[in-house]
Amino acid sequence: MTRQDAAGGKQTPTAELISKIREKKATVGVVGLGYVGLPLILLFARKGFATIGFDVDPEKVEKLERGESYIVHIPAASVAEELKAKRFRATTDFRLVRDVDALLICVPTPLDEHREPDLSFIRGTAGAVAPHVRPGHLIVLESTTYPGTTDELLLPILSKSGLRCPLSAYTTDGKTVTSPIELESDFLVAFSPEREDPGNKNFQTHQIPKVIGGVNAESALAAQTLYGQAFGQTVMVSSSRAAEMTKLLENIYRCVNIALVNELKLLCMRMGINIWEVIESAKTKPFGFTPFYPGPGLGGHCIPIDPFYLTWKAREYEFPTRFIELAGQINSSMPEHVVNAMAEALNQRKQCLQDSRILILGVAYKKDIDDLRESPSLRLIKLLQERGARVDYHDPYFPQLHKMRHYDFKMASVELSPENLANYDAAVIATDHSSIDYGMVVRHSRLVIDTRYATRHVAHDREKIVLC
Ligand SMILES: NC(=O)c1ccc[n+]([C@@H]2O[C@H](COP(=O)([O-])OP(=O)(O)OC[C@H]3O[C@@H](n4cnc5c(N)ncnc54)[C@H](O)[C@@H]3O)[C@@H](O)[C@H]2O)c1
Repeated sequence: MTRQDAAGGKQTPTAELISKIREKKATVGVVGLGYVGLPLILLFARKGFATIGFDVDPEKVEKLERGESYIVHIPAASVAEELKAKRFRATTDFRLVRDVDALLICVPTPLDEHREPDLSFIRGTAGAVAPHVRPGHLIVLESTTYPGTTDELLLPILSKSGLRCPLSAYTTDGKTVTSPIELESDFLVAFSPEREDPGNKNFQTHQIPKVIGGVNAESALAAQTLYGQAFGQTVMVSSSRAAEMTKLLENIYRCVNIALVNELKLLCMRMGINIWEVIESAKTKPFGFTPFYPGPGLGGHCIPIDPFYLTWKAREYEFPTRFIELAGQINSSMPEHVVNAMAEALNQRKQCLQDSRILILGVAYKKDIDDLRESPSLRLIKLLQERGARVDYHDPYFPQLHKMRHYDFKMASVELSPENLANYDAAVIATDHSSIDYGMVVRHSRLVIDTRYATRHVAHDREKIVLC
């Protein structure tokens, strides 16, 4: 390291930060206390760091300050414990950014109404943070976004502070920075993609390797020092852009493979083959095959959205992302396919969709979570209503449907009882929550449209089930 203290033994801001992190004397801030930011900040608190969480939603901040959680799989006790130990507090006051040493940004990155990246949350955060940037600050973006966001959008806004963080190339061997590290930044900027899988009991936040790319070598080193305190493994890449692209590759890989099995499901249905049986059998191959599963369409904050961040950026390079576009077309046509299959099944029973009573089972975008962003169930409800069906839903995680960006259904979850099921012309299993008794659903329903193969173990009344 160079520039160590020409002026009398004093450390540079970066060297000071690194020592503070190693001694766990650094304060870690997280901006955006949602599905990603909340578990992240609690992880650093558990590891012994003082933490401050920032959010623009005063209701969330008040709940956290009372020791409550608003995310089902994050127990309130884990919030209360860190509050009590005075390792965690939440605030809407961005002036407290001055009091943190490292700031991790986990704000939303949705698409706008033209399906283009909506970076207003990142811009808003950067603008709110910039006046408070001070020497030795480490700022890491974790929100999923296109390559270039950190160095061409975030860095210039933060640099309005008047402090320096020069962009420069460096090398790594995947584990450490291998180029000489010049200590010449006043503050540090990096990107480290969030790879959280809410509700996944097999992998907790700290068990998922943390990919890190800095805008320069010292930023990468500082970020690695920080994450190394909380995560079991860090993976170093040679730029923030490579780290941003890593996350997009992961999500595009999922999106394209889900589209592939969705397309094969449609073919298998015509051929009278059960696609789920085929996947189970294919996945016995010990190499070269990763299973993906078909469903009623894509949901969640990530897979339906992130690929289009890259498609948008690729246009700047006049590069058409054909795989992504095709996968998007196939996946987004799945709710229509489910509705058509239901109309056909009713038709066979001499009924039509118009005025039929339909019960949607599950509105969360995947099983056992309380998140319905981009959920295909919402599109299913809308399509069915447009075709004249009378639709209700049941979801243990959503007693009511609140107003969303694209939908405002004003519906409440109906009880899942034998009597209620018997009142519907069809039940559609859109989300396969584990708490639901699918044997009971099949026994008491007249017709079951199963988009998840949740009824695989139900032996009775199989003539009522349509897999689709
Ligand atoms: N949810 C996931 O499974 C997941 C997984 C991997 C990556 N990601 C990515 O992580 C990012 C965050 O996603 P999430 O699911 O946690 O979103 P979320 O909506 O659950 O949480 C975002 C939080 O940010 C707050 N917020 C919005 N603007 C803010 C601002 N200017 N300042 C401070 N707080 C602000 C919101 O009030 C909210 O609490 C996104 O880029 C997403 O793509 C999400």
